[in-house]
Amino acid sequence: MYRVPAMNDIHDNFAEATRIAAGDDGTNYDNVAIALHWATALLVVVQFAMAKLWDSFDKPTRQGMESIHVSLGVLLMVVVLVRIAWRLIPGHQRPAIVSGRVKLASKGVHYLLYALLVAQAGIGFAWRWAQGHEVSFFGLFAITGPYGRLDRPTRHIFHDLHENVAWAIVVIAGLHAAAALYHHYALRDRVLARMLPLARG
Ligand code: HEM
Ligand code: HEM
Repeated sequence: MYRVPAMNDIHDNFAEATRIAAGDDGTNYDNVAIALHWATALLVVVQFAMAKLWDSFDKPTRQGMESIHVSLGVLLMVVVLVRIAWRLIPGHQRPAIVSGRVKLASKGVHYLLYALLVAQAGIGFAWRWAQGHEVSFFGLFAITGPYGRLDRPTRHIFHDLHENVAWAIVVIAGLHAAAALYHHYALRDRVLARMLPLARG
């Protein structure tokens, strides 16, 4: 009889403690969420730019850039998974400022971006393994694939998937950023401010 409320108390205390520790004042996103959001945005831009630029370099430089792309890809995957886990902890959700259809659209875009980012990491891993490589993280550790080098048509499928998902992420994130700027400069609400590290109050 008494165990259930006691467990709930521990649960609530944990949610409360992690919120306070993360600088959550109830109006803005907490510091952990903000750091993870901007790390995600930066990594996506770097990943896309690097992949689009490496063809203009000689082979050794290109291969070095590919290794960095894969290592940063592992980092991006961890950042996204930590963000998803963090926002699942009770008390860490931020109620939408907007309502109705705009709320539905913005939530839809956020979930879509998470889904595409997780898918992109999965495809990236699958493709790297299909090339006969391990997924190495800056030479510190490597994740061996469940299969070795695969045939050219299969590698081509991974290429097409990775390329299309990359464009989808960049275009959708671009629209998402444009919407945030519209809120800030045209509608003058707090949608962007509460995702900025120094815009408290
Ligand atoms: C590749 C770049 C980006 C990605 C992948 C991305 C992804 C996301 C995701 C998944 C969320 C949902 C956060 C959550 O509640 O869990 C979010 C929120 C947000 N993002 Fe981005 N974002 C990117 C770039 C940007 C940029 C450049 C801006 C600003 C110009 C921006 C502004 C915001 C704002 C204001 C929110 C909070 C929206 C709300 O409170 O409903 N994002 N972003
Ligand atoms: C949002 C994140 C990412 C974006 C935007 C992105 C984008 C790209 C793009 C545009 C290419 C070039 C495709 C082409 O050759 O036409 C590429 C290649 C590649 N990416 Fe990613 N990528 C991301 C994440 C990842 C992750 C997480 C991994 C995981 C290991 C990864 C592994 C690879 C591999 C192995 C290649 C092929 C390199 C080669 O040409 O041999 N990527 N990526």
